[in-house]
Amino acid sequence: MDLTAAANLNTKLETNTALVGVIGLGYVGLPLAASLHNGGLPVLGLDVDSSKIESLKRGENYLKHLGDDMTRTLSASDRFEATADFGRLAEADVIIVCLPTPLGKHHEPDLSYVVIAGEEIGKTLRSGQLIALESTTYPGTTRGEFLEAIEREATKRGVSLECGKDYFVAYSPEREDPGRQSHTTSTIPKLVGGLDDTATDLAMQMYAKGIENLHRVDSAEIAEAAKLLENIFRAVNIAMVNEMKLILTRMGIDVWKVIEAASTKPFGFMPFYPGPGLGGHCIPIDPFYLTWKAREFGHVTRFIELAGEINHAMPAYVIDRLAAALNSVGKPVHGSKVLVLGLAYKPDVDDTRESPSFEVIELLRERGATVDYSDPHVAKTVPVRKHDLQMHSVELTPQNLKKYDAVVVVTNHKAFDYAAIAQHANLVVDTRNAMAAHADGMGARLVKA
Ligand SMILES: NC(=O)c1ccc[n+]([C@@H]2O[C@H](COP(=O)([O-])OP(=O)(O)OC[C@H]3O[C@@H](n4cnc5c(N)ncnc54)[C@H](O)[C@@H]3O)[C@@H](O)[C@H]2O)c1
Repeated sequence: MDLTAAANLNTKLETNTALVGVIGLGYVGLPLAASLHNGGLPVLGLDVDSSKIESLKRGENYLKHLGDDMTRTLSASDRFEATADFGRLAEADVIIVCLPTPLGKHHEPDLSYVVIAGEEIGKTLRSGQLIALESTTYPGTTRGEFLEAIEREATKRGVSLECGKDYFVAYSPEREDPGRQSHTTSTIPKLVGGLDDTATDLAMQMYAKGIENLHRVDSAEIAEAAKLLENIFRAVNIAMVNEMKLILTRMGIDVWKVIEAASTKPFGFMPFYPGPGLGGHCIPIDPFYLTWKAREFGHVTRFIELAGEINHAMPAYVIDRLAAALNSVGKPVHGSKVLVLGLAYKPDVDDTRESPSFEVIELLRERGATVDYSDPHVAKTVPVRKHDLQMHSVELTPQNLKKYDAVVVVTNHKAFDYAAIAQHANLVVDTRNAMAAHADGMGARLVKA
């Protein structure tokens, strides 16, 4: 096999002269671009959102949890540039795709972003390029839909390049966990699997510039499936513990105390925590990529479906608990004033994608409650996939807390003053066990849900 193209790229990577184009500068793409840049490679960031490009030019970070230091370093560097001009993909020796993989209306995978990216790459494909897909997806996408899109556009241009010889394609899933303090993009171990061995070699060499710990797998399909396994594992375990919550609450047993007790076992147990439902771009969505693909092979993904059903029912359960608590003090939900604490889907971030808070608010409105929310990280709502609430965050003051018939803790942000909530709220429905340290003296004013 003629490995000239691979050898050339290898040399460019060794000498830090391989230009890396990162398509999609969101939660995954931006920190990855910064890690590879910090590792010495020149980086060209590409995004269709011109406001992001402008922020990056000013050195401002639109992803608050990552901080302005990251973007200041990038904007001051002569090895980083951000652009919306996809014609410049031809300049890149390496192209990494970090685009969304959402679900369609009928819960089917929406690969349109991945396919569009493949087509854009195909339009300027040239010998010596390495292309890595990072978006979460079902096994077979990189070798199937993604590669086909690249080849389709290249063929239209009359370009005849061979994958594995002239250019190289790999899959490397992202395991980013925004807001987590213990790990960063560079310290989270990364899986790398190419469409062939040369692609894996080159992708390993490239990622090693910015990521400390790489794990080579035998194929792109193994890496694709491993990412789904990780997220399905979480979805199923969260559903299991949510089911335990329903049962134990009926039995008058505190599920959080049960989890704390079980966690003392040094092997064979791993704690998962119940909550108001799933949120974020990954766990509520990714499992259904496998569900869809499994049908092609005549399989029904029963664990995934059941987990989805249980987790999806959680916001309604929270409202039922709230309704019962209001009822016990002689108040109907209709006409009650309720304050929802937390709009983000998890603590200490401003990410509201798929947040169960939206569902809780909509269900309360349907039942005739007047609803406000407070979130120090989300000043106002923006339209999301299924909701356009048009609300502004209210300040969490003692006066405000007293105004509401009930407060529902949906997201356990550290910034909330739980002692003040315990002192001033008329009724607290706590879906996260966030009030545990302040429960004494609250009596029936505190309801876990
Ligand atoms: N957010 C996470 O924590 C996380 C973790 C692991 C894996 N993932 C996966 O990574 C992938 C990307 O997710 P994300 O959270 O970074 O998404 P995101 O929405 O934060 O970022 C996507 C970016 O792509 C841009 N974009 C959209 N269409 C484009 C196009 N045609 N060309 C160029 N740019 C375009 C958007 O403006 C946005 O900046 C998804 O498959 C997701 O499942 C995300």
